[in-house]
Amino acid sequence: MNNLKSPAKRAFRAPILHFLQDPGQSPDGDAYQYYADGLLLVEDGRVRQVGSATEILGRLQADWEIVTYPDKLILPGFIDAHIHYPQIDIIAAPGEQLLEWLNRYAFPTELRFSDIAHASEVASFFIDELLRNGTTTALVLGSVHPESVDALFEVCGARKLRMIAGKVLMDRNAPALLTDTAESGYADSKALIERWHGYGRLGYAITPRCAATSSEGQLERTGQLAREYPDTYVHTHVAENQSEVAWVAELFPWSRSYLDVYDHYGLLRERSIYAHGLHLDERDRQRMAESGAAMAFCPTSNLFLGSGLFNLTAADQAGMLVGLATDVGAGTSFNQLRTLKEAYEVLQLIGQSLSPLRAFYLATLGNARALYLDQHIGNFEPGKEGDFIVLDPASTPLMARRLQTVKDLEELLFVLMMLGDDRAVLATYIMGEVAHQR
Ligand code: GUN
Ligand code: ZN
Repeated sequence: MNNLKSPAKRAFRAPILHFLQDPGQSPDGDAYQYYADGLLLVEDGRVRQVGSATEILGRLQADWEIVTYPDKLILPGFIDAHIHYPQIDIIAAPGEQLLEWLNRYAFPTELRFSDIAHASEVASFFIDELLRNGTTTALVLGSVHPESVDALFEVCGARKLRMIAGKVLMDRNAPALLTDTAESGYADSKALIERWHGYGRLGYAITPRCAATSSEGQLERTGQLAREYPDTYVHTHVAENQSEVAWVAELFPWSRSYLDVYDHYGLLRERSIYAHGLHLDERDRQRMAESGAAMAFCPTSNLFLGSGLFNLTAADQAGMLVGLATDVGAGTSFNQLRTLKEAYEVLQLIGQSLSPLRAFYLATLGNARALYLDQHIGNFEPGKEGDFIVLDPASTPLMARRLQTVKDLEELLFVLMMLGDDRAVLATYIMGEVAHQR
């Protein structure tokens, strides 16, 4: 346990891993840097240098405080590319697939976010839970109420986090108290963008919930907003469930596919993040790739709701940007190690695989790229923001035992992702300051 003061210069000594490229595309070892005895220098909240401890220590001035985590593993903070903060209280709600689950669990719990005191209480818990699980940045859906996003951003701003969030837009096929209108949704989103986008490390996501819950008029206004604010995000769901896909085809009879509805309204662009994409065709994948939009793979949610199996190889072959996400509350864990385990298992079922190196890339630099944030976060290049985590590969007796027969880094990472959970997250640092410590 390290008792930290607040010096501007802090050096973290531990095994350190970070990625420079996608190991799926550069398999020959230059995709990552691993220092078995590494040193990460963080000055005024930003990475100054990373490298071998013995090489750097010889030249290090005496004013650097040294913090050591022997036998642990330092990684850039995990990033979650799609999560719903108002759904915490219905995580693990059993028995339904998507459309029934929305009506029975998600909508009723989101109704409570008209109450700002409730929203603030949940927002604080939500952020604590992310940090406890080593997630330092997330792309978050609020509820339809603009106040829900104010409540979340207040907490994130006070804690100096890099977070993206947005108010859900939905003007049909939901309870009356949970709907906005094309005009109010546009105006409320615009006001939130003006208030929060670019404030500290916060970013705004224009968030139509899904095609089935927005009228054509609302999607029109949403596209207009996305054009007016090209550096904001667009965030929604696509092609998650077969019944949903069939319903969207009825609601938009002119559309070629579910994704085509969004394309028609100008919502496919860089910084557009789509969750799921389980039921796409080749033309959809091509449109995703050429537009620069990203797909968030949500394996715990896809298994929990029985939605389907994500085809990673097809996404890769099309050249799509792919991220990894929990999708809590349909997802069953905040933890990206648990999410990677289920990603691996989903891919096993369709004869595909996820190497441990690519898995940890996806949860860090891969998600930073999917969110177009890799100039700020995702790895330890000099100047990047000092958001990082310390993992304990021996956090349970079983893991400690398994560790004794681990031969190399890849096996260590595989054991972490198959057996690890929140207990493996020993510490989470935000801009070089400890934000969670077990
Ligand atoms: N599609 C529309 N809304 C939702 C939601 O809240 N969760 C999931 N998993 N899919 C959705
Ligand atoms: Zn979702």
